[in-house]
Amino acid sequence: MLEIIEDSALSKVRQLAKYLDVSLVESYGVAVLRLDNKKGKGYISYFSIIPGLSLVVFNITFYEKLVIHKKIIEDQIIDFYYVLNGIFKHQFSDMDSIRKVDKNRNLITISNSNSTSSITFLENIKIEVSDIVINNQLLPRGTTNYIRQLERNVKELVQKVGETAPFYYESLIDPIPAEYAQILINNKKMDVMGRLMTEGAAINMLFSQLKNYEKETSENKIYLPTKLKDEDLLKCTKIGDYIKKYINRRVTITELSKHFLISTKKLQNGIQFLYGDTVNRYISNIKLTHAKELLQKSDLSISEICKICGYPSPSYLSKKFFERYHFLPKDYKSSFQNKNALFEISYRSVASPSMTPEDVKQIVEKAISFNKIHNITGCLIYHNQTFFQILEGAKEEVMRLYYQITQDPRHSSLVIVWKGVKFVRNFSMWNMALVTDNGNLRVTYEDNTEHQDLGNIMNNLDSSKAISDILWKRIHKVIETRSTAPPGV
Ligand SMILES: Cc1cc2nc3c(=O)[nH]c(=O)nc-3n(C[C@H](O)[C@H](O)[C@H](O)COP(=O)(O)O)c2cc1C
Repeated sequence: MLEIIEDSALSKVRQLAKYLDVSLVESYGVAVLRLDNKKGKGYISYFSIIPGLSLVVFNITFYEKLVIHKKIIEDQIIDFYYVLNGIFKHQFSDMDSIRKVDKNRNLITISNSNSTSSITFLENIKIEVSDIVINNQLLPRGTTNYIRQLERNVKELVQKVGETAPFYYESLIDPIPAEYAQILINNKKMDVMGRLMTEGAAINMLFSQLKNYEKETSENKIYLPTKLKDEDLLKCTKIGDYIKKYINRRVTITELSKHFLISTKKLQNGIQFLYGDTVNRYISNIKLTHAKELLQKSDLSISEICKICGYPSPSYLSKKFFERYHFLPKDYKSSFQNKNALFEISYRSVASPSMTPEDVKQIVEKAISFNKIHNITGCLIYHNQTFFQILEGAKEEVMRLYYQITQDPRHSSLVIVWKGVKFVRNFSMWNMALVTDNGNLRVTYEDNTEHQDLGNIMNNLDSSKAISDILWKRIHKVIETRSTAPPGV
């Protein structure tokens, strides 16, 4: 075990070099440790980016398990770890849980002065990890726009969690920071250009990690109810049926609380916990879902549906319906009456870290048979742990399938690239074409599978530096034109 007293990221790397029996080559703002002995092989580099902001990159295999026990002596040290490959474990000494941080994972830790933690690198596992270290006390105050922005973000983060430090936040990261991490970890150039590239990537990486944190924590409003008992949760699961039973009138929280013998606070917490919604929104969702089903499946007029679902007036129902589904009820109904109305949703998402080519194959096989029955066509790209999918078909079918797909634990962080009505199918022959890393388009039609070369979209993908949405829109465009182009184009 290596004991480190960490007063700066550079001192950490110096102590590591000493322990590993290698010299540290230091020049202004950079330090590199190259290891090639019985303890391991690879390198660890340090870059000072601006005062208070530095980067440590691990691209190394240790031949023996290495436990670094570190004691922080400054306050508010924030580490933004990102694992491009491999795995490491992190533990604050006064917390029970050990965090295993593996491929594509993002870990933010905030240490208080005198907090101690340990990092474990396992033997014979190559790790590619970037660790951006911020010493909040040393950041130069407001010299340039990005430092002002950085300061604001760090301040918010520290304010939000500083009280509870030592603090952890762990998530799967968007594909974009992963691109920066590639540059940070694999850029070996130490000349001016190389340094600029590393600095640019570090700043971008940091902002992406902060943005990722903000996005996830603000979306994830689920309040974990500490005082809820199983029986309270059980009551909350029955509320949906009660609302459906009395759907033609207004149901209030007080009424629910009295009927189910549960306090309004527990009721709110339970619904929030189970469905991620307030009670009022939950009631509204049930009513609107029923209204939507009636619009789709019955010939009832909008005022009849309004009565059945207990809305005070058709205009109020229209308003609520529009807020929820971005369609007016009459437009929603007519889109079903128009058999030719064709709809598309395309999205990108991050595959779960354990995804294998075999899993992707299974998803596609299932998709083909389901999509065939529901007359849905489209294309699925799987590349670099990222999915991109285009689904086209009748609006309701596509939306229902998309909703089902959003619930699938095999991926996360779905972002819609495009959605709307279209006039022609681009994939009329393909219930679900698959494009994987080899740039091959696998097309299955009527149980025959053929392979088509799509001009190596995937390689173009690699070289693209566009930000993600533009990138995915471009792929969308490429696929759209390629798939409708006559053979040989
Ligand atoms: C990236 C991705 C794309 C998917 N695409 C489809 C699809 O096009 N059609 C389909 O039926 N299922 C698709 N699935 C699977 C669905 O999410 C879901 O597992 C499937 O509809 C079966 O649901 P069930 O197990 O609840 O019946 C996809 C899953 C993932 C992760």
